[in-house]
Amino acid sequence: MKRVLTYGTFDLLHNGHINILRRAKDLGDYLIVAVSTDEFNAIKDKKAYFTYEERKAMIESVRYVDLVIPEQTWEQKVDDIKRYHIDTVVMGDDWKGKFDYLKEYCEVIYLPRTEGISTTQIKEDLSDFLDS
Ligand code: CTP
Repeated sequence: MKRVLTYGTFDLLHNGHINILRRAKDLGDYLIVAVSTDEFNAIKDKKAYFTYEERKAMIESVRYVDLVIPEQTWEQKVDDIKRYHIDTVVMGDDWKGKFDYLKEYCEVIYLPRTEGISTTQIKEDLSDFLDS
């Protein structure tokens, strides 16, 4: 069984998120998603609208996802790969090259992002909409 792992905040769930989860699952048989905790988002200087528990519940309800774990630190990835016997780590290509150091432990694949959508874009569009 091929096991795939990906990371992200997944706030304001959108079709770009669903697309990457579908393509990640297509690369294997079992998909684990590490969702950033609120504390880790603070470290990343990122503020999510939905709490970790809410984002976790939404990602768990996506049919391509088999397991959700917390992403709490930058350094946990090697431990995650070993603990969950991961064959492939998948990230959007906004992270291209940044996780190449994991190639010592598993396959690393960067998938093209879905164009024209992001959590940041949704927030900006809503803000413009409410101002108009
Ligand atoms: N992603 C994607 N296509 C998009 C947006 C996100 O493939 N249009 C992928 C990212 O590359 C990442 C995962 O979805 O692997 C989670 O991304 P996240 O940062 O949570 O979502 P963004 O919409 O990029 O959020 P932000 O605007 O806050 O950076």
